[in-house]
Amino acid sequence: MESAASGTADGRGGSVASGAGDGASGRPVSAETRARGVAKVLIDEAAIRERIAALAAELDAFYGGATGDDAPLMVGVLTGAVTFMTDLMRAMTIPLAVDFMAVSSYGASTRSSGVVRILKDLNEEVEGRRILVVEDIVDSGLTLQYLLDVLRRRNPRDLRVVALLKKDKPDAVPVQVDRIGFAIPDEFVVGYGLDYAGLYRNLPYVAVLDPSAIEDA
Ligand code: IMP
Repeated sequence: MESAASGTADGRGGSVASGAGDGASGRPVSAETRARGVAKVLIDEAAIRERIAALAAELDAFYGGATGDDAPLMVGVLTGAVTFMTDLMRAMTIPLAVDFMAVSSYGASTRSSGVVRILKDLNEEVEGRRILVVEDIVDSGLTLQYLLDVLRRRNPRDLRVVALLKKDKPDAVPVQVDRIGFAIPDEFVVGYGLDYAGLYRNLPYVAVLDPSAIEDA
């Protein structure tokens, strides 16, 4: 598995055009209260399910034969990656271990501050292990860059990254992302684990908010 350059999904990664609206996923935006403020569905449940099945098959093959100490340790980045992590790990069929890390996020803003700190560290040892970092989204790349630096210093045998989403952002830092679910336009998205001001994580799809729902400084 090669490291993809920033902004490049692997060949099978889905790509979402910025013009995609409600019609792109073939469904209207729900009238449910959890969807209040949602302008359009960018990636629907079926597309997410299908892409995760493909990623899981690729990862099974990559880590295939893993047993005992060889079993990869999936490191989910809280809180946004929880939904992706739980679906991805259940779609994988090889033995694997899971753990979580929490790093500081945007708060109620939609822009990266560039300031990253560890809020919760791993329970598991990293040294000598095959580590698979599971991220929800790579935006500026700063969070992932920091996290990978931290993990690399702990001497893993192997360090890989799978991200559900990667924004098409020319000024992002060139960070290692080995597998990408979907390359998306540079828009602020919510749902399927991703939040705005703590809300919208429980949407089962990835969506774009109506600008009127965003109070950005
Ligand atoms: P980065 O450091 O700019 O790459 O941002 C990484 C983190 O910011 C992600 O793990 C998310 O928690 C959050 N983030 C970045 N873009 C979005 C977005 O469009 N919606 C929700 N959260 C985002």
